[in-house]
Amino acid sequence: MQGDLLRVSGVGRRFGGLVALRDVHMTVRAGEIVGLIGPNGAGKSTLFHIISGVLPPTEGEVTFRGERISGRSPHEIAALGLSRTFQNIQVFGDLSVLDNVLVGCHRHGRAGLLATAFPSRRVRDEERRLRERALKALSFVGIADLAFTPAGLLPLGQLRLLELARALAAEPILLLLDEIAAGLNPVETSTMAENIRAVRDQGITVLLVEHDMDLVMALCDRIVVLDQGEKIAEGFPEEIQRDERVIRAYLGAEWEEVSA
Ligand SMILES: Nc1ncnc2c1ncn2[C@@H]1O[C@H](COP(=O)(O)OP(=O)(O)OP(=O)(O)O)[C@@H](O)[C@H]1O
Ligand SMILES: [Mg+2]
Repeated sequence: MQGDLLRVSGVGRRFGGLVALRDVHMTVRAGEIVGLIGPNGAGKSTLFHIISGVLPPTEGEVTFRGERISGRSPHEIAALGLSRTFQNIQVFGDLSVLDNVLVGCHRHGRAGLLATAFPSRRVRDEERRLRERALKALSFVGIADLAFTPAGLLPLGQLRLLELARALAAEPILLLLDEIAAGLNPVETSTMAENIRAVRDQGITVLLVEHDMDLVMALCDRIVVLDQGEKIAEGFPEEIQRDERVIRAYLGAEWEEVSA
């Protein structure tokens, strides 16, 4: 529970003439659940892409566990202990739930293609270890009974839990969740909230993007607000709820986008 795990310093990102992010500074401390909110197009997913190495920043830098990570590949950043989920579901429908989770485990897997074709005892041991870890992640989120079901048959609520399990199976230090509760009904949303709290209780730090304000306010220790690429506020949930700039930024948006 000490020190900045993640530090975003002066990050900017342009797409041609469009400024998606401008001079964004923020930090995440170990043990926190931090919310990143803002109207549609504010730059939240772009910032997640930059933190996770999917996109390079055009300005500024990101450090994770004291190391500069901007400019490194998503794979290298994942290997340092950063996992993420994507706003759009990224599931292989024909593969089983378990195999979908195994896709997220390879940060720890060392077996190459040859080793997969001609598995040695060491490789088989490693595969067993990865399967155990994947099953553990599925039980953690409460869907171990679906391990052998094709992922394509799952309803949205369980697909999102599968994505959470996959990100957890890599045993991250920091977990980034991009709208993991989008489209979920109230029961599924509260299951997700319980899971996110349980993740934090395991010692994993969480940075999440979410439009459901009730969920954000109930879950987050601290909130950062982006609007049109700029950070307009940062603080505790109760401070953010009464912040004039935040209220004004959201007035232009459809309320359903904010609260649904
Ligand atoms: N690859 C890209 N090429 C061009 N423009 C992009 C690209 N990715 C994002 N943008 C633009 O950057 C801005 C920020 O987009 P981003 O997806 O980060 O917003 P967001 O806050 O995640 O929005 P939402 O809440 O709708 O998911 C938007 O104007 C978007 O159209
Ligand atoms: Mg987004």
